Amino acid sequence: MQTKQVHFPYISYLSLLIPIDMPRTKIAGIGMYVPPNVVTNHDLLKYMDTSDEWIQERTGIKERRFADRTKETTTTMAVEASKIAIERAGIAPQDIDFIIFATLSPDYYFPGCGVLVQRAMQMKEIGALDVRNQCSGFVYALSVGDQFIKTGMYKNILVIGSEKHSFGLDFSTRGRNISVIFGDGAGALVLQPTENPNQGILSTHLHSDGGNAEILAMFNPGTHANHWTPESVADFDHAEIGEMFMSHAMIDKAQNFPNMDGPTVFKKAVVKFPEVIMESLTANGLQPSDIGVLIPHQANLRIAQFVQQKLKLRDDQVYNNIDKYGNTTAASIPIALCEAWQMGKIKEGDLVCLAAFGSGFTWASALLMW
Ligand code: ACO
Repeated sequence: MQTKQVHFPYISYLSLLIPIDMPRTKIAGIGMYVPPNVVTNHDLLKYMDTSDEWIQERTGIKERRFADRTKETTTTMAVEASKIAIERAGIAPQDIDFIIFATLSPDYYFPGCGVLVQRAMQMKEIGALDVRNQCSGFVYALSVGDQFIKTGMYKNILVIGSEKHSFGLDFSTRGRNISVIFGDGAGALVLQPTENPNQGILSTHLHSDGGNAEILAMFNPGTHANHWTPESVADFDHAEIGEMFMSHAMIDKAQNFPNMDGPTVFKKAVVKFPEVIMESLTANGLQPSDIGVLIPHQANLRIAQFVQQKLKLRDDQVYNNIDKYGNTTAASIPIALCEAWQMGKIKEGDLVCLAAFGSGFTWASALLMW
C-alpha cells in the first residue's frame, strides 16, 4: 500500500517525459532452475584446505548447486528456466521474438548460448544476443531488452542469466578464495510491453571502469598476448603462431583459471552498490524507504548486509539467498527475483530494485514496478 501511494506522483511526472505512445516494459513471466546436486561447504573439504566456518563467516554461503558434469550445460539449465518463464507468460517458445543471454561460462567459446537456446526450444529464426558482463550481465541484458520493447521493435523478449561455474574452477587449495564462492544455476524472464502506468521498468543504469579489468578476470584462453599486464599472465611456452591460444605450460601453471583480488573487489563493491542504487532512486524522484524489495547480486552476504545498512533498509526490504546457491553470477539476480516472487515477497505494484557489481569492473541497477 505504502509503495503505491509514493509512486503515483512520479508516474504522472514520467508521463510528461515519455512520448504517449511509448509503452513500458513489464516482466510477463519468470522462471529459475538450479541443479538438484547440493554441494555443502563440508563437501569441498575433500578437494581443498578450507572450513565451513571460514566460508560461512566470510561469505554467508552454506551450500551451492553443481550441474551434472556431462548431462547439464549453461544452455540446458537456461532452457529449463526459460520453459517456466515462457509458460508463466502464457505464450509459447515460438512467440519469442528476441533472445538475450547473459553468461561468463558459455557452452562454447563461440557461438554464444543464445543460438543454442533458439535451437533447443525450436524457436523461429529470431535474433539472439549474448551479453558478457559477468555479475552485472543480467541487469545489462534487461536494459537492452527494455530498450527494444520501449521502441516497439519486439513484443516478447526472453532474457536469460545462466552459469555453469563448476566446470572451470581451481578446486585445489590454490584456488580456494574463488572456488568456494561460486555455484551453478539459471534464471529467465519474458519481457513484454504494457500500457499499465503502475507497472514495468522505470529506468536502468549501466557503468564500467576498465581500469580494474585484471582485478577479477579469467585471462586464458584469450588473444591478449600479455599486452595489458606488466607480468605475464600466459606462458606461451615459445609457442608458434596457432599454438598460443592454449599451451601445455599455461595449463601446468594453472593460468586457465579465474583470478580475483577479493579484498579489492569487496572494497569497490561496497561503494558502487549503494551509489548505483541511489542513482536509480534519484532518477525517479524516490528514496530507499520507497523500495519494496532490493535484489542485490548475490556476491557475498557481507556486501549485501553492508549495502542494506548504508541505505538503512529493513530486513524485509532485501532478499538474499546466497546461503543456498552461492554466487551464480549472471544467474543470481533472476534466481533471487524468481524465488522472492514465488515466496510471495514481491506483489503487484511493489517497487523492485535490482543491483549488481562485478568483473570489469561493471555495475548496474534497474528499478521497476512489479
Ligand atoms: N578457506 C580458508 N581460508 C581461505 C579461503 C578459503 N576458502 N580463501 C582464502 N583463505 C585465506 C587466505 O589465504 C588468507 O589467509 P592469510 O591471511 O593467511 O593470507 C585469509 O583467508 C584471508 O583472505 P582474504 O582474501 O583477505 O579474505 P576475505 O575476507 O577478503 O574474503 C572473499 C575473501 C570472500 C573472496 C572476499 O574478499 C569477497 O567476497 N570479495 C568480493 C568477491 C566479489 O564480490 N566478486 C565479484 C563477483 S564475481 C564476478 O564478477 C565473476
